[in-house]
Amino acid sequence: MDTLECLMSRRSIRKFLDIPVEFEKVGNIIDAGRMAPSAGNLQDTKFVLVTDSGARQELGKACVEQYWVGSAPVIIVICSDVTRTKRFYGEVGEKFSTQNAAACVENMLLAAHAQGLASCWVGAFEDEMVRRTLGVPDHILIQAIVPFGYPDEKVPVPQRLTMDQCVFLGSYGNRIKDLASYMEWYGEHITKAVKKGQELVKEFARRIQQ
Ligand SMILES: Cc1cc2nc3c(=O)[nH]c(=O)nc-3n(C[C@H](O)[C@H](O)[C@H](O)COP(=O)(O)O)c2cc1C
Repeated sequence: MDTLECLMSRRSIRKFLDIPVEFEKVGNIIDAGRMAPSAGNLQDTKFVLVTDSGARQELGKACVEQYWVGSAPVIIVICSDVTRTKRFYGEVGEKFSTQNAAACVENMLLAAHAQGLASCWVGAFEDEMVRRTLGVPDHILIQAIVPFGYPDEKVPVPQRLTMDQCVFLGSYGNRIKDLASYMEWYGEHITKAVKKGQELVKEFARRIQQ
């Protein structure tokens, strides 16, 4: 799977098979997080690896009763030690720490998917419960909880905004009706045309068979 295919086909999965994940794969996921960019290369993101069944159940409860989180064989809790980042960058340091952590999380989701694993970025959790369960000190920010495992569901691609809805050209708010044509980037048109062609062929074949 190449990089673009990996990031286009990744999905949030919330149902996991009850089988363990090879440690080598978990190592690759953590490495992918470790290698993410960070402001000033301060690398203030920390990873708490949770495999203990009791702790996983507790985390599921802490994720505002998203119990499926605890059913994943591996959970990684992503934290930021903002101390140095704030010392270097002042108040903006906290924003940088959050962005650093987000870069790690996305890298990890993609590393999981590239290895046939599934995951879901979980941001809704009761901070104090997670802190207590994992012994996270007060000065550490808990950024995200990410369960990993083999997928036990297939989910459709959730709707995304089109390019015209989320891209502005040159100044904020300046929409271009057909940005792809403007950029002389026809990938989107070709993909749509190929899909339509495939549907027509399928429909034609179905009619012949009748
Ligand atoms: C910051 C953040 C927080 C999220 N928190 C949750 C969560 O608490 N529970 C959940 O089921 N999904 C959560 N998600 C996953 C989103 O629901 C999901 O990414 C979105 O629906 C798009 O689906 P996709 O990831 O399959 O493309 C979160 C995603 C992000 C980026």
